[in-house]
Amino acid sequence: MAPAMFCFIKQHHWENRKVIPFQTHGRWPGHTIEDIKQLCQGAMFQYERAIQFDSQGGNRLITKPEEIDDWITLLMSL
Ligand SMILES: Cc1cc2nc3c(=O)[nH]c(=O)nc-3n(C[C@H](O)[C@H](O)[C@H](O)COP(=O)(O)O)c2cc1C
Repeated sequence: MAPAMFCFIKQHHWENRKVIPFQTHGRWPGHTIEDIKQLCQGAMFQYERAIQFDSQGGNRLITKPEEIDDWITLLMSL
C-alpha cells in the first residue's frame, strides 16, 4: 500500500471498528487487502473490494462501473 496509507493505519486504533478494506490495482493486486487486515488489529472487516484498472497505466476501468456503483450504494446504506 502507499506509505501514506500505512502511516495512517499505524497511527490509529482499530479494535472493534468496522473497516472496509479496498484497493485499486492495474492487474496485479498483490496482498494489499491482506496487509490492511493484518495492520488493523481487532477490527471487523466487511465488504472488501479490489477495483481493477487496465494494465497500461491508463484510467480505463476493468471492474464494471455498475459493480462499483452497487458497492458504494451498499456502503452508503450502512
Ligand atoms: C507507484 C505505483 C505502484 C503501482 N504498483 C502496482 C502493482 O503492484 N500492481 C498493480 O496491479 N498496479 C500497480 N500500480 C497501478 C495502479 O495501482 C493503478 O493504475 C491505479 O490503482 C489506478 O488508480 P489510481 O491512479 O487512483 O491509483 C501502481 C501504480 C503506481 C503509481
